[in-house]
Amino acid sequence: MAASFDGNSGVPTLTPLQQNDVKKPRKQRVAAIVGGVGAALLVVGFMVLVYVCLMRVKRSIRQTSDAETSVPSPSAELDRTYPYAGDGTQNLRQLAVLELKHATNNFSDSNIIGEGSFGLVYMGLLQDGSMVTIKRHLHTPAQNFVHEVKHIARVHHRHLVRLVGYCEENHQQFLVYDYISNGNVGNFLYDSEGLPIGKLNMRQRLLIAIGAAKGLEHLHSLVPPLFHMHFRTRNVLLDENFTAKISDYGLSKLLIEDPRVGSSSAIDCFLDPELNRSNHFSAGSDVYSFGVFLLELTSGHEANSRNQSNADQNLVLQAKRSSDVGDYVDKTIGNQTVDTAKEMIELALQCVDVSERRPSMRHIVMELEGIQEREISGLRSEIGAVTLGSELFT
Ligand SMILES: *[C@@H]1O[C@H](CO)[C@@H](O)[C@H](O)[C@H]1NC(C)=O
Ligand SMILES: *[C@@H]1O[C@H](CO)[C@@H](O)[C@H](O)[C@H]1NC(C)=O
Ligand SMILES: *[C@@H]1O[C@H](CO)[C@@H](O)[C@H](O)[C@H]1NC(C)=O
Ligand SMILES: *[C@@H]1O[C@H](CO)[C@@H](O)[C@H](O)[C@H]1NC(C)=O
Ligand SMILES: *[C@@H]1O[C@H](CO)[C@@H](O)[C@H](O)[C@H]1NC(C)=O
Repeated sequence: MAASFDGNSGVPTLTPLQQNDVKKPRKQRVAAIVGGVGAALLVVGFMVLVYVCLMRVKRSIRQTSDAETSVPSPSAELDRTYPYAGDGTQNLRQLAVLELKHATNNFSDSNIIGEGSFGLVYMGLLQDGSMVTIKRHLHTPAQNFVHEVKHIARVHHRHLVRLVGYCEENHQQFLVYDYISNGNVGNFLYDSEGLPIGKLNMRQRLLIAIGAAKGLEHLHSLVPPLFHMHFRTRNVLLDENFTAKISDYGLSKLLIEDPRVGSSSAIDCFLDPELNRSNHFSAGSDVYSFGVFLLELTSGHEANSRNQSNADQNLVLQAKRSSDVGDYVDKTIGNQTVDTAKEMIELALQCVDVSERRPSMRHIVMELEGIQEREISGLRSEIGAVTLGSELFT
């Protein structure tokens, strides 16, 4: 009994105790074993306590450093006060259709800035002077709209687009978000043909990757976790300072469309190929989509480009097959950062691997921060081949 406990827990103190016990009377041995088990439990308990404390300290350090590097914003403010400030939805505004009409020049076509899975997307100016993005639901009104909206409004993070308010009136439904001025990352990576345009340098791409990874990690860290299910390059927006903000999180229950079915006949490269009707969406499927995003970010090519006549044009397959990932790197970035790009592609390849081998978002954030540290300190040339993937958090 004691031996098996010892084996399972791996607490070394039990072994010598046992050996000394062998010649003692039975009662004493039992007492010693009980005592030993008690002591071991105490040790384990103490270790757990120390671990929990360390994690807290680590987390708070990370949050502080995040706060230090970040530009203070209302949402960052909310982040810190969130657990103590009610249910996190007190700043959520309920808007009237009339207000939204005023904001969008009567939903004028010239205010339309896109069309997403939720519906038409308008740019608008509210009467308080704030610029917003208004998403107009064009399908059958979603059930439990307000309930779902409040769920989204509870999520606050520097790298997630903030939900400002909502509107539900006469079977019309709207979501109102902060306006993110630079639009989606794709606008800075490739042209309408899906070919590189080189508007971002490697450091900017890395920062964007880290920001998006942190946003997605935050969603996955919620209890219960929130899977994005539509993570795409077009859902990674850039504000005026090129800070990455993920949009369209938490919408899955408001969309009729099953993400696994796909919106059109075209192949959606971001969709986890292991995902189909028989299995549920998991964190790993978001990780797959994030991997495709990383491939776009480093190659400068659009994954779902219109020119996809054959499988050889598939960005993911190309990356998997290439003998030298260096060939794959966006030629518009300078030579001196090619190694950084290569490391990002290696990480991307882990993300699009079979689901059992994909890293967690948390691990991806750490890897990207590692790449950033090496990029900044410029130690790369001395280190030579850099090994990716510390086993600690896999
Ligand atoms: C807004 O547009 C609708 C039709 O699109 C029209 O019926 C209505 O009169 C317009 N309202 C204003 C204030 O322009
Ligand atoms: C961008 O950075 C400037 C200067 O740090 C700051 O004043 C501004 O508020 C930032 N913009 C956003 C959207 O965070
Ligand atoms: C659906 O998923 C299962 C398990 O992941 C896989 O065996 C099967 O081939 C998939 N089916 C399709 C049509 O992709
Ligand atoms: C599509 O790809 C083929 C093969 O790579 C290329 O020859 C063709 O020019 C491309 N078409 C466009 C419109 O980019
Ligand atoms: C950059 O790489 C290209 C191709 O490998 C090479 O021809 C060029 O000389 C390099 N430039 C610098 C500044 O290293």
